Amino acid sequence: MLLTVHVWRQAGEDEPGGFETVHPVQAREEMSVLELLDAVNETLERQGAEPVSFDDGCREGICGKCGVTVDGVAHGPEKNRASCTQSLRAYRDGDEIFIEPLRAGAFPVKKDLSVDKKALRRVAKEAKFPVAMKALNTAGCISCGACVAACPNGSGQLYVGTLLKELPPLAKTPQERDERSSKVLDAAEHEFGPCSLLGDCTEVCPAGLPLENLTAVARENLRRKDPEKYG
Ligand code: SF4
Ligand code: FES
Repeated sequence: MLLTVHVWRQAGEDEPGGFETVHPVQAREEMSVLELLDAVNETLERQGAEPVSFDDGCREGICGKCGVTVDGVAHGPEKNRASCTQSLRAYRDGDEIFIEPLRAGAFPVKKDLSVDKKALRRVAKEAKFPVAMKALNTAGCISCGACVAACPNGSGQLYVGTLLKELPPLAKTPQERDERSSKVLDAAEHEFGPCSLLGDCTEVCPAGLPLENLTAVARENLRRKDPEKYG
């Protein structure tokens, strides 16, 4: 099929951005969104234009490095799949598709579709980075940031709640547990917006993490205020 792809171009964080139309782009429905971007770049190169920058890594939904917004949805229209494993089955010959960066105040655009997701790392490192990675890996979180981008408030509550839910068993003492949780809560408050209560995060999370994980944020906040009552 031939698609018309409107792709976001932006030279850098403080530069103005806008959609560039690339046409025609040869695609197949079994291609992933990242493979479509490869095809976009082949078209641009044939036309003598600069290829589009985007983030990728494993292309198997494991590393969390990819992530673009497809027709307004973080990662793409298929629920709970990373951009690298999203197919083009919803599209037909002649269709148009809009691809832009993950949209969140915490994720500045580096170039075109590539964003800086270091805000996630800054929160995780407050719990000691290797410990946080162990906690997130246990839960299946791939640190892709789609939950932040899907939330109208740019909240990272699904990510933060998942981290806070898994942290307690990894602490050697109750004090260590409380200190790590408290630092994570402070960092999350600094980096991300408040929860919107809409649950959009769970629709896009490639790990399919549940809304219940958000309760860990409330629990740790209450514990911080009154450890004896909520311990
Ligand atoms: S909670 Fe889900 S959407 Fe959020 S960073 Fe982890 S894997 Fe990605
Ligand atoms: S490239 Fe690794 S999860 Fe998409």
